[in-house]
Amino acid sequence: MTLNQYIRDVQDFPKPGVMFKDITPLLGNPQAVKECMALLINNLRDKKIDKVVGAESRGFFFATLLAYELSAGFVPVRKPNKLPFDKISATYELEYGTDVLEMHIDAIKPGDRILIHDDVLATGGTAKAVCELVEQLGGIIVQCNFLMELSFLNGRKKLNGYDVYAPLVY
Ligand code: PRP
Ligand code: MG
Repeated sequence: MTLNQYIRDVQDFPKPGVMFKDITPLLGNPQAVKECMALLINNLRDKKIDKVVGAESRGFFFATLLAYELSAGFVPVRKPNKLPFDKISATYELEYGTDVLEMHIDAIKPGDRILIHDDVLATGGTAKAVCELVEQLGGIIVQCNFLMELSFLNGRKKLNGYDVYAPLVY
């Protein structure tokens, strides 16, 4: 089985000219999810991860599973005005304009070893903002891991200096 076959290409979503990588067929197949987890966990079991930080919303699916498997805590990074407690924020660039991501101020302690997870690395803007949030609180980023990397968008460049890992590359 290749995991590829569980990722559905949807042409012109969310707008014309974009080929959307839909992971819902993968999420619906427990065997595919298990294979995916094995790939994502890869070399992380001996890395003493304290917290897995997941980016809303598609990053949450595997980030929570990874946290459970690694016996680590889970930290949600959310879009603006969703988190109830005191927050820090980071701004990132969209195609047109900017957006903000937020994290609770007590989500990470200085020196915590952090795995950042999101479903897709595209331009890298989202992941870079998550890295900034983690580092604002003194977390040590052990790895940024993604299910998929859209390599033609050069997201790795924005994450220069971090260990970046993605089992599926397009
Ligand atoms: C998508 C995707 C990644 C991000 C990647 O999230 O899930 O989080 O874009 O793009 P980038 O590398 O260019 O920042 P989106 O903001 O569409 O929201 P969602 O996860 O809530 O669907
Ligand atoms: Mg996302």
